Parts: sequence; C-alpha cells; structure tokens
Amino acid sequence: MRRAIFPGSFDPLTNGHLDIIKRSLPLFDEIIIAVLNNPEKKPLFSVEERCVMIREILPEIENDKCRLTVDSFEGLTADFAKRSGANAIVRGIRAISDYEYELRMALMNRRLEPTIETVFLMAAEEYSYVSSNLMKQVFMLGGRVEGLVPELVEAKMREKLQ
Ligand code: PNS
Repeated sequence: MRRAIFPGSFDPLTNGHLDIIKRSLPLFDEIIIAVLNNPEKKPLFSVEERCVMIREILPEIENDKCRLTVDSFEGLTADFAKRSGANAIVRGIRAISDYEYELRMALMNRRLEPTIETVFLMAAEEYSYVSSNLMKQVFMLGGRVEGLVPELVEAKMREKLQ
C-alpha cells in the first residue's frame, strides 16, 4: 500500500495544487490532502471551508486506481504523516526559488521521521507563478484569476468579497 500525504495550507486550493495531485495519482494507492490548521495565521477560508471545497473538487480528477481523501491536521507534518501510515510526503516545486525552502523542510521531516520520504513533483509551467497568496491578492484587488483556480474556488472567493 503506497500512501502519501500532500500537506499544505490550501487557502485556497489552486490549479497548481490540482496539477500536483493529478501527477501523484499514478504513483500512489492513496493520497491524503492534508490541510494545515495553523492558529497563528488569519486565513481567508476556515479549515472546514477549505476541506469541504477540496472534497467537492476532487471527483473532477479522481480515478479508480488511487483513493483521494481530505483531512486536516495541527502540529508537525511528519507526525501527521506517521499517524496516517503514509510512506511519502508529496510537495510541488514551481521554480528554483521553491527549492531551498522545500529542501530544508524535506531534510527536517526526514530527520523527524526517517522512514518517510519527501517526493517532489514539478508543477506544469503554466502554473509556475501561481500561489494561493498571489491568487488572493489579485482577486481581492479586482483582478481575474480564472483558469488559475478551480471554478468553485473562484465562486467562493467572490462570496467572501461580497
Ligand atoms: O504549501 P504551504 O502552505 O506552504 O505548506 C507548508 C506546510 C504546511 C507544508 C508547512 O508549513 C508545514 O509542514 N507545516 C506544519 C508544521 C511543520 O511540520 N513544520 C516543520 C516542517 S519541517
């Protein structure tokens, strides 16, 4: 059983995240999208809202070879991965600028849980500049983000704005 977690804030889920999940599907039997509950941050969407949104979107990309589930967690990603029985942590890399931060996290997570490997996947070029923070900023200032976030996310962002 090859089980991975894909951890992140997902505030909100972008098409870049979906691209990484799609690329992970052939590699694992189960992927848990693990939404971090970080009480120190003031998110746009609550953890519950993020989980519900992701659960609604996943059937668009699901196949019968890999089970996709959504869960939230607090604390260390390595602990959550261990608790979930995962043997891998999936992370997406968009550009070389992501690498240093991701490398530090991967090495720390490996030190914390030596049996769990981090697997890096390269996001599609068209999403190389897409981040949740950029999407929120542009949208809140009246810019268009269609094609960069799922339609449901765009609709929920519009609701927040009103
Ligand atoms: O994609 P994001 O939002 O930048 O995700 C970052 C995330 C959630 C993967 C990272 O902040 C994390 O793992 N946080 C949990 C706390 C933790 O384990 N910190 C040590 C990482 S080495």
